[in-house]
Amino acid sequence: MQSTLYDPRVRRVLDDMHASADRNDPPLLEKARGKRGTERTSLLDDAFIPVSADAGRLLYVLARSAAPGTFVEFGTSFGISTIYLAAAVRDRGAGRVITTELHAGKAARARDYLSATGLTDLVDLRVGDALQTLKDVTGGVSLAFLDGWKELYLPFLRMLEPAFAPGALVVADDLDLFPDVLRDYLAYVRDPAHGYVSAMLPVGDAMELSVRAR
Ligand SMILES: C[S@@+](CC[C@H](N)C(=O)[O-])C[C@H]1O[C@@H](n2cnc3c(N)ncnc32)[C@H](O)[C@@H]1O
Repeated sequence: MQSTLYDPRVRRVLDDMHASADRNDPPLLEKARGKRGTERTSLLDDAFIPVSADAGRLLYVLARSAAPGTFVEFGTSFGISTIYLAAAVRDRGAGRVITTELHAGKAARARDYLSATGLTDLVDLRVGDALQTLKDVTGGVSLAFLDGWKELYLPFLRMLEPAFAPGALVVADDLDLFPDVLRDYLAYVRDPAHGYVSAMLPVGDAMELSVRAR
């Protein structure tokens, strides 16, 4: 039996999204280079800035084999990573993805793409700041994917921690792109006193994979 990832409908949407990102993003990222704050983020409101296809497949693998529970995503953008996670939910036959996106226009586009895959029923897409929209997630999280703005990774992790099931996986993207901003986050998950075992994966822009060990 083939994975939902290779369902022609899902494949077509993902191929189209990855190709669109490859065309659309480079000039926007070039313009955003060196800019900070709202000037930078407003340029990125039209950008996919997605996981690569191999990072997406890795997310699928981790999600497909994770302990029973809910998957939480911080940073939906147009929904590429969300689709990889939702495909894993469909193949597990249980659970759901709760994802959140700050920008309403991006969330609307993510809804359209998700709808084209037929996976909408597996995804709870919330619009707003993750630190607010995911406050009510209080238990049963078996995988968290962190891909929003990097300075919020650590506060977001600390907020979500009480909701982690034993053995929960935490995947944090973009280590290669933001080594300075992510220093505190990495120090936290790599300190055994905080209850994780953690390693860097050289996939896409490099990801930190951590398991909640207790
Ligand atoms: C790198 S992109 C996410 C890419 C997406 N995971 C994918 O692979 O297609 C980061 C997204 O996080 C969103 N974001 C940033 N800070 C956020 C916050 N505090 N709450 C929710 N979304 C946020 C941004 O608007 C942006 O669309």
